[in-house]
Amino acid sequence: MERFNQSTESGKSPEPERQKIEALINASLAHGIKFDEGQNAIVLEVDPDDFADQELLSDSEKEQIMATDPFVSKVLRVFSAGHSQKEALSQIEAGKILAEQSDENLAKVPEIYFHSDIEIKDEVLRDKLAKAGVETAGSQVGVLLMYRVKGVDFLNYLLQEAIKKCPAQEAELHPNIGIAQRALARDPRAMSTEEVFKTAAALIGFEEDERVRLNPKNRDRLFTYLQKHDFVLNPEIIARAEKAINSLNQNGFYHNDLTERNMMLEFDPNGQMSDIYLIDFEKSGSERDQDFGGEMAILSQYKLLGEDRDVRQQKELMNFFGDLEKTKLRVKQARSEDYKRLEETARYMLRAKDERSMSLAEKNALVEADYLLGGKAYELLAGILIDLSLEQSEQVKKYIDQRIQSGDLSVRYQNYLSRVRSKIQ
Ligand SMILES: Nc1ncnc2c1ncn2[C@@H]1O[C@H](COP(=O)(O)OP(=O)(O)O)[C@@H](O)[C@H]1O
Ligand SMILES: [Mg+2]
Repeated sequence: MERFNQSTESGKSPEPERQKIEALINASLAHGIKFDEGQNAIVLEVDPDDFADQELLSDSEKEQIMATDPFVSKVLRVFSAGHSQKEALSQIEAGKILAEQSDENLAKVPEIYFHSDIEIKDEVLRDKLAKAGVETAGSQVGVLLMYRVKGVDFLNYLLQEAIKKCPAQEAELHPNIGIAQRALARDPRAMSTEEVFKTAAALIGFEEDERVRLNPKNRDRLFTYLQKHDFVLNPEIIARAEKAINSLNQNGFYHNDLTERNMMLEFDPNGQMSDIYLIDFEKSGSERDQDFGGEMAILSQYKLLGEDRDVRQQKELMNFFGDLEKTKLRVKQARSEDYKRLEETARYMLRAKDERSMSLAEKNALVEADYLLGGKAYELLAGILIDLSLEQSEQVKKYIDQRIQSGDLSVRYQNYLSRVRSKIQ
């Protein structure tokens, strides 16, 4: 397939090639679609109609371009020659490694059709590029022409989900949300990534960050917001990315910049997610970037969003009871006599005839527990109640129900008791 001749070894294009690319950038820019903007590049949507009448392209080239579904030309802000070459080669290598895997449920890499550093000779075009935010220092820019993923990046997706999940009552406080919800329901590309980010930032309460990306604090906030609003992430997304990253690593290849904006989701015409793509191979190579926190860390975090509320609560409860058990064992071993006495006080409390004596006995038990393990009295007593429920579940249930009903418990102790109650059949 020869859409364009691939660039030469040095990454520099021969003259006719250069002119074609210049024409292509010009046409895309003229059309005015700044498709997206990352930290180092602008991404232009290339519409074949825009340059179909370009004289510089041969008929067969035009045909090939027309036959290719819209693709994205990524205009890099190039600082040194060979820059686009390195990124392109990394991306091609990653694509090859993934294509060789027998597992089909892996993230993919967009195919590259053309890559080169070119010199922009046309001054008007240089000006236009500068306005669009692309440095043309030394009049060089790097160009990558690649498959356009028909969807949005993972950050854009999560923010859209947050906007969609915002209930009507909450939306009333944010005048833009209703409009955004309607627009995005029609078309996930109805708003630019920047607009989506701004709208969601106001809703979620992001801390200031002028760039469209998630810093750790904002990531936590988005996370909490989505969990609170019962969003469940399709686990397939993370699983596919994780398997792809594993395969790459096993082949000595490291992406080194796997952020939310560098993963993309593709949807079929029915809006069903069909593919995951890894993009932006600028920092990739055969060495792991030690400064980058690790690709698995971010994926592991998102894995938690793939669990629905029941599973999450179940896990949380297991942790809770695990902690109680540890606290209890520690005291039991270190202060066995005192512990036994506390257990007796608790038994006495369960036998109490009326509410008043029950509440008094409870006070005594808590004082004793506090003496044993200051600051963790509630935990300790809750742990003991779990043990006692094995022999006298009815009494423990009765105690908890009565005490919760009385309404005079501290919020924290009541929380402990409700959880213990949920464990007793
Ligand atoms: N092949 C593509 N198809 C569709 N959108 C893309 C593609 N590549 C990049 N984008 C969009 O453009 C943004 C910036 O591209 P990226 O390659 O990450 O550049 P940068 O190096 O500036 O971060 C991405 O976060 C994504 O939203
Ligand atoms: Mg990027």
